[in-house]
Amino acid sequence: MSTTDLSTKERQQSSRFSAFGAIDFWQEKDYGIEGNTISGRFRFSVFDSGVIRVQASRFTEFEENPYSVVSKPKPTSFEVEEDQMNIIIRTEKLSLTIQKSNFQLTFADSEGNILNQDDSLGISWIGTEVNSYKKVQANEKFVGLGEKTGGLNRFGNAYTNWNTDYFGYGIGDDPLYMSIPFYLGIHDKGQYGIFFDNTHKSVFNFGASTNRFIYFGAEDGDMDYYFFHEDSVGKIISSYTALTGRMEMPPKWALGFQQCRYSYYPDSEVYTLAKTFRDKDMPADVIYLDIHHMEEYKVFTFDGIKFPDPKSMIAHLKSQGFRVVVIMDPGVKTQKGYLPYDEGKEKDLFVKYPDGQEYEAQVWPGWCAFPDFTKPETRDWWVEKMKFYTDAGVDGFWTDMNEPASWGQFTPNLIEFDYEGEGASHRKARNVYGMQMARSAQEGSKFQNPHERSFVLTRAGFAGIQRFAAAWTGDNVASEEHMLAGVRLVNSLGLSGVAFSGYDVGGFAGEASKSLFARWMSIAAFSPFYRAHSMINSNDAEPWAFGEEVEEISRNYMKLRYRLLPTIYSSFFEASQSGKAISASLAIDYPEDENIYSQDFQNQYLFCDRFLVTPVESTKELMKVYLPKGTWTSLYTDQKYEGGKIHLVECPLNYLPVFVKESSVFTQQSDISNVTEKPKSTLCIHVYPGSIDSQNVHYEDDGISHNHKTGDFLKRKIEYSAQSKSLVFSKTEGGFPSDFSSLKIYLHHFDEPSVEVNGKPTQVKNEDFAFLGRLTEFDPLPDNLHPYHEIKNLSFIEIPNTNEAIKIQL
Ligand code: GLC
Repeated sequence: MSTTDLSTKERQQSSRFSAFGAIDFWQEKDYGIEGNTISGRFRFSVFDSGVIRVQASRFTEFEENPYSVVSKPKPTSFEVEEDQMNIIIRTEKLSLTIQKSNFQLTFADSEGNILNQDDSLGISWIGTEVNSYKKVQANEKFVGLGEKTGGLNRFGNAYTNWNTDYFGYGIGDDPLYMSIPFYLGIHDKGQYGIFFDNTHKSVFNFGASTNRFIYFGAEDGDMDYYFFHEDSVGKIISSYTALTGRMEMPPKWALGFQQCRYSYYPDSEVYTLAKTFRDKDMPADVIYLDIHHMEEYKVFTFDGIKFPDPKSMIAHLKSQGFRVVVIMDPGVKTQKGYLPYDEGKEKDLFVKYPDGQEYEAQVWPGWCAFPDFTKPETRDWWVEKMKFYTDAGVDGFWTDMNEPASWGQFTPNLIEFDYEGEGASHRKARNVYGMQMARSAQEGSKFQNPHERSFVLTRAGFAGIQRFAAAWTGDNVASEEHMLAGVRLVNSLGLSGVAFSGYDVGGFAGEASKSLFARWMSIAAFSPFYRAHSMINSNDAEPWAFGEEVEEISRNYMKLRYRLLPTIYSSFFEASQSGKAISASLAIDYPEDENIYSQDFQNQYLFCDRFLVTPVESTKELMKVYLPKGTWTSLYTDQKYEGGKIHLVECPLNYLPVFVKESSVFTQQSDISNVTEKPKSTLCIHVYPGSIDSQNVHYEDDGISHNHKTGDFLKRKIEYSAQSKSLVFSKTEGGFPSDFSSLKIYLHHFDEPSVEVNGKPTQVKNEDFAFLGRLTEFDPLPDNLHPYHEIKNLSFIEIPNTNEAIKIQL
C-alpha cells in the first residue's frame, strides 16, 4: 500500500463514526478499574457510593480538566466482578455494568433498576468529536443544563455549550452566556445526574431529529463524565455541588434590592437615585456603576468629569446604606501609556496568536487586548489592579462581557491560552474564560477587602461558577414572555448548582409597560438575586418611574422581600451548605408529578422551600395554577387549597399568587430600608399546620464579616411534627447574639384558646394581619382591580427568644 492510499483511507475514516471498541485489557485499582479497548484507554473511578466517574480517551494520558471539580474521590467500598460478557462495579447505591465486547455501559440502582443505559453505539468518535449515546428510559424527562432557554423538560431539543454574548436573545435561542454541562434524567425507575467535564464546545441532544437515542458530546477532548444517583433530585444536586463546589455565604446586602442602569452618570444622578429610594421609602442596598463610570470605557479608571470624586461619593452612599458595585469588562484598551495595558503587555499576560502576536478585538473601549484569566499570573495581576476600586470604597464587582464578547462575535479559534500551564486554543478555553475572570474578581475582592465577604456578579461561566459568583441572565427583553423565560432560566440554574441567580427586572432591552414592570418586581421579590436594570437610551426604569400604582406595588413587594430576609438569608445559608436551589423548580421535590412539566405549570417554583410562586403575565387577572400534592395556603388570604389539583385563581396586578406549603414555618422581621438598619427586636414566625413533618434552619450572623467561619453565627433547627402537632426550636448553636429578643408566632388556621410553651399554657391572642400594604385609591372612582387582602383574627403568641430549646405544643 502506498502512503497516498493510507492517507486517503485515514481521511475517509476521520469523518466517520469510530467505536471505542472491545475491552482487551483491564485491571482493578484502588479507585475502580482501568484498562484499554482496541482504540483507547478507559478508567472508572468510584468517587462516592452514588458517584462514578467515566473516562475514555484515545490518548495514553487522560485530560486533566483543572477548573470544575474541586473534590477528590471519597474512600468508598465497592466490588468488581467479571463474567463472560461483562465487568460489573458495585457500590452501596449503584452498579455499573460494562459490556466487554462493545463498551456499552448500564447504570442501575442497588435493586437492579436500570437508571441509564448506553445505546449500542456507546462512547465513540467522529474525527476529534467525542460522543456518548444513551437510550431513553420509559417516560424519561431531562432537566437542568444551566442557563438554557426552552421548557423545563428538555426532551426533544438539542443545546450547545459555547459561551455567547447574545443581546436581546429570543426565548428559544441557544447558546447564551453560560455553559453548565450537567443535566438530570428523571423517569419511572428513578433519577440520575450526568456532568460532562469537557470545556470544548459541547452538544446535548435530548432527542432532536432522532428517535433512537439521546447523546452528549464535544468537539474534542476526552469522554469524561460523572454519573450521580441518589434517592432524590435534591440529593443529586447536592452531590453535584459537593463535586464542583458551593457558593460562599454572600454579604447580606447582596440579598437586598439592587438598582442598575446602563449607565447612571454623572455623580449627581447617583446621589439623586440613592436619595429617591430613601425619600420614597423603598428599601434598597446596591447601586451599580455601569461602563460610563470609566474614562473612555477603560477598566481601572474613573471618568474625571462625570465622577470627579468617586471616593466621597461612595462614602456618602455608604452612609445612606448603599453599597456600590462596579462593572469590570475583560477587554483592556490597547493604548500605550495606559498603565494596565503597558503592564499586561510587559508581563506577558494577554491572550496571543500562536506566533506570539497579541490578539486584539474591539469592545467598548475600541481595540482591546484580553487578559488570559486561565493563567495564574494574570489572575494575580488582576487581583492587584482591583485595589484601584477598593481604595475608592467599591464593594462589589460585576464581571460582564466575559464570554469573552467582542464586536463581530466570532473569536478566531487559533488564539492561545495558558490553561493552567497546559496550553490550549480558544476551542478549549472559551467556555472557562468567564469563570476564571469571575474567580479573579472574587480573589481580588477578598485580597483587597479582606474583612468583608465578596460579591461578584457574572454573565459568563462554566460548571462550578457558583464558587465564585452570582449569575444573571444577561440582556433580556422587556416582554411578558421574557419575564417568564427568566424564571425558567433561574430555576434551571438552580437545578444545575447555581443557587444565586436572577434576571434584569423590567427587561434590559426595550421598554416595559407599566403592568409588566409591576409584575416583574413582584415575581423577582421571590428570586435569589433581585436587581432592576435597563439599557442605554431607554426610558427611566426605576420602581417609581411608572406612575403611582406601579410605585406602590413595587414598594409592597420590595418591603415584603426585606421582611422575609430572615427566611431568605437562612435559605442562602442552607444553599451554601448543601448546594440546594433557593428558587427550586418543582422537578426537585415533585419529580414524579407529570403536571409540573406541562407548558402551563412549568414556570412555578418553590422559593426557600416554602413559597410556591406562580409567575404570570401582567395582562392576566385570572390564572390556572397547579398545586402539587399536599395542602396549600394562599399567602395573602389564608385560604386553603387542596393539592394535586388545578385551581383557577385571581391574579390582580397587586397580588402575585403565592401559596405556602403545608407544615411550613417561616420568619419575618420588621421593615428596614437597607440591611445595615437593625430591625425591631421581635422576630415574627408564621406557622402553617399540615400532614407532613418539616425541618428548616434559622440562621443569623453579622451579614458581612468572615467571623461566621470561626463560630460567630447563630443557628437553630425549627422542626414541625405533624403527628404531635408540635414546633421545636432546637437550642441555638454558635456564639452570635440574636438580633431578636422576642418571638411573635402567628398560628395560621388555628383556633385553640391556649398553647403550651415548654409545658406551660400560653394565651393565644389574635389580630388582623396583612403581608402587603393597601394601595391608595388614586382614582376617585372605585377600582375593583385593586383588592386588599387581610387575614382577620390571626392567632398568635408572644414569647421571649432564648438560646435554649423551645417546644411549642399546638
Ligand atoms: C452588556 C451587559 C449589560 C450592560 C452593558 C453595558 O450588554 O449585559 O448588562 O449594561 O453591557 O455595560
